[in-house]
Amino acid sequence: MKLLYAASSLSIASGALARTLTVYNACPFTVWPAMFTAGAPYPSYTTGWQADAYTSVSFAVPDNWTAGRIWGRRDCDFSTNPGPNSCVDGGCNGGLVCDQSTGTGVPPATLAEFTLGSNGLDYYDVSLVDGYNLPVAITNTAGCSLADCPVDLGPNCPAAIQGPYDSTGFAVGCKSACEANIDGNPSDSANCCSGSHNTPATCPNSGVAYYSYFKDNCPNSYCYAYDESSGTALWTCPASSNADYTVTFCPPPT
Ligand SMILES: *[C@@H]1O[C@H](CO)[C@@H](O)[C@H](O)[C@H]1NC(C)=O
Repeated sequence: MKLLYAASSLSIASGALARTLTVYNACPFTVWPAMFTAGAPYPSYTTGWQADAYTSVSFAVPDNWTAGRIWGRRDCDFSTNPGPNSCVDGGCNGGLVCDQSTGTGVPPATLAEFTLGSNGLDYYDVSLVDGYNLPVAITNTAGCSLADCPVDLGPNCPAAIQGPYDSTGFAVGCKSACEANIDGNPSDSANCCSGSHNTPATCPNSGVAYYSYFKDNCPNSYCYAYDESSGTALWTCPASSNADYTVTFCPPPT
């Protein structure tokens, strides 16, 4: 099946078996987008590239793409020690091109997540579950809902979860309370929805520290492990609409 996509991406791109994904960097600085897919089918496109300010790329993704994610990496230098630490945030195993099986990215990172064509629906969200590192929006060509976190959550991020910082001391990330490990017990944590808190009933958003900082600023994003109950976290679009999607970093105000 991998061969099918690799060998015939052009014919798929023009038919009903693929969608077009556009990744646009609207930030006034370079971002290094990265892509990870939890298993086949894989898009026939690189898993990491450099996106200069105000540039975009478009490529085909399978119309049954499952558990795919796109994120941006900031302040990267792949010339030495290429790997997860080549960027101030969002880096992956592999360096510029993320490893297909282990290149999931280092938090904090804002994720654009997709599962297309599952029981007749596309599912998509902008996730802050692994923290925030860039404003991101997912738009589509089918008139379905906007998923976004259009706000720079770095500068005003609460001190306990702020960072990392770039070379000038500017906050280029805001960690989740889970990632920041502020309760010191990640295996049984209300912030991580782990251990005795591992169900929607035992992990309400009221128990997640700083949930409201993320959700109030970015109400259309997925802000903790069980945020579906907010009704504005996970978005759907009928698969029959054959939507094409655009992931925009630093989306302009709408
Ligand atoms: C995805 O779609 C292709 C083409 O229709 C199919 O061959 C493949 O089995 C599907 N994969 C999954 C995981 O559903």
